[in-house]
Amino acid sequence: MTEIDPQLLRELDADRPGTAPGLLSNAEKDRHIERAFLGLYRWYLSRSQKTRNWNPDTSFDWRALRTNHSDRLNNLVEGFFAVEQYVPDYVTALLRVIRRSHGRSHFHIRWGAEEEKHSDLWHNALLFLRFRTPQWIEDFKQTLRARSWELPWDNPMHMIFYTVIQERATQVNYLNTALIAAGKSLLAHYRNDADPVLDEATRTIAVDEAAHYNFFLEGARLYLYYYPAQALEALADVIKYFSMPAARLIPNYANFSEIVAADSVYGPRQHLRDVLDVALENLSVHGRRALAQGIRLTRRVPHPDGSTHDTAIFDVLDCAAVREKVLRLYGRIAEFEKSVGFDLVDPVPLAPPM
Ligand SMILES: [Fe+2]
Ligand SMILES: [Fe+2]
Repeated sequence: MTEIDPQLLRELDADRPGTAPGLLSNAEKDRHIERAFLGLYRWYLSRSQKTRNWNPDTSFDWRALRTNHSDRLNNLVEGFFAVEQYVPDYVTALLRVIRRSHGRSHFHIRWGAEEEKHSDLWHNALLFLRFRTPQWIEDFKQTLRARSWELPWDNPMHMIFYTVIQERATQVNYLNTALIAAGKSLLAHYRNDADPVLDEATRTIAVDEAAHYNFFLEGARLYLYYYPAQALEALADVIKYFSMPAARLIPNYANFSEIVAADSVYGPRQHLRDVLDVALENLSVHGRRALAQGIRLTRRVPHPDGSTHDTAIFDVLDCAAVREKVLRLYGRIAEFEKSVGFDLVDPVPLAPPM
């Protein structure tokens, strides 16, 4: 799907003047990325175990869940349930692509264990809402699982940007649903949908989604730091073709997506403003339009032998901000690893190369 000559992108990364990562060989860049992912995974695992160790069956008072919600809210829960039925595919499909990376693949297994709890949480919610019978839910589950989800991109760099956008979008979906469950929706048809159990459940998984988003964000920054031209192109590509996972697999997805869009849970406006704009800002990219423009200019540039390349693509990236955030990540990793003693046997570089 990449529209720019990949060779040109590789050359832009290699020839980029005045920057240290550009002076490293690809093997060295990959070693730095791999070591940082391992440290990031270790840090993430310790935090995840300490702060988000909830249980989808026992952490919520399911018996107290209301059983007289509006059909629209019931449909939202049913849609979230459906999307989370593909967790086995979300885990295995990408795991095959990143299995050689210790940090990234082990994180992915941990991430899958957390997503599996989301699947069970929505299953429980759907059962206790009494909107559908257990048999109906079982049949629906089997229909969903008869199909399998496939990767939208089959390379690690595109997928890190896909997961950044997807996790943020999922978080926005859940936070806006939590507002309904908290009785704060301004829409008349949700006026009687306040439900403390659903509110707590939805906010609990939204916190997980924020943690996932942050992991992928840190990983994406590593690619932007070490391979900026290729990473920006991957990001632009992902934004251009993005769709939520499983949208094409779920039989009644159109109904679900109509409700989330019409009720401002997750429509085009939320996608642009609350997902893309936020993610691009966090990635230190100067906005959607600038990104598209930078990519377009890069595409126009020929690369005759010996001449300098037009590096318009870099104008869209705040390289100093990326570097600062990557440095902060290295500091966080070093601090955590020191608490275990890794600094004695296999220290992470204190800073990425200057
Ligand atoms: Fe999830
Ligand atoms: Fe997630």
